[in-house]
Amino acid sequence: MTDRYAVIGHPVSHSKSPWIHAAFAEATGQSLEYGRIEAPLDGFKRASDRFRHDGGKGLNVTVPFKAEAFRYCTQTSARAQAAGAVNTIVFDETAYGDNTDGVGLVTDLTANLQFQLAGKRVLLLGAGGAAQGVAGALLDAGAATLVIANRTADRAARLASQFQPAVACPYESLQGKRFDVVINATSAGLSAEALPLPAGLLHPGMLAYDMVYGRDTPFLAVARSAGARTSDGAGMLVEQAAESFRLWRGVRPPTARVLAALRSA
Ligand code: ATR
Repeated sequence: MTDRYAVIGHPVSHSKSPWIHAAFAEATGQSLEYGRIEAPLDGFKRASDRFRHDGGKGLNVTVPFKAEAFRYCTQTSARAQAAGAVNTIVFDETAYGDNTDGVGLVTDLTANLQFQLAGKRVLLLGAGGAAQGVAGALLDAGAATLVIANRTADRAARLASQFQPAVACPYESLQGKRFDVVINATSAGLSAEALPLPAGLLHPGMLAYDMVYGRDTPFLAVARSAGARTSDGAGMLVEQAAESFRLWRGVRPPTARVLAALRSA
């Protein structure tokens, strides 16, 4: 029987993961099936158990189930523990949970965008699950400073204390500070909301990165008009998928063509 994988989430109909993993399978000559599971909000465990029972080999987990997936897994990686969230499950005798979001972001920055994080001043916007999923990887990649800004200040403080030497900073106190890269890990762009960034924060010579993909968020529009280099999160999406594929199949697929096709779609 062909090995079966799926992405589980709610909603999940928009997910590009089946298309990405089919392209990876073709590129690496691997035979697999990859589907979508839209679980009810209270039905993650039931749907995952059923998939596993029916012989499923692995899951990608997306919104809103990543924290629940962390609790569901019987073993987890160090980076999943740091993130408190799982986006990739490998089923064998255990349910092994990993988190490839952070490495996906770092690979996109360093390999695709040729932006080396070592020694750089990094500003992370947001303190929800998306920010928590990548903070550790940014530090591991050698960021010299990691500042976390969030609308709700105590969430930023909590996240920074968990990822020392990161520090929290309210939006209004960012005035006059200089960063090499600003990474938007808020969900504001999904509802086309702008962030309260002080003038001058985004400037030529820096990179502004939005983890949302496939849409021109207000953050990216402001960054572009300020002369900053910009990127959406399409590369992160493809690179986190490549890392999941490697965990399941033992081979890391090439990503450049898939990313180019995703961008032109
Ligand atoms: P996710 O898993 O995508 O991180 P989340 O845990 O709900 O989702 O977190 C959303 C993040 O986007 C939070 O950092 C949130 O700020 P608050 O903690 O203050 O709620 C941030 N966010 C969402 N909409 C925003 C907006 N309009 N302005 C500023 N921050 C926003």
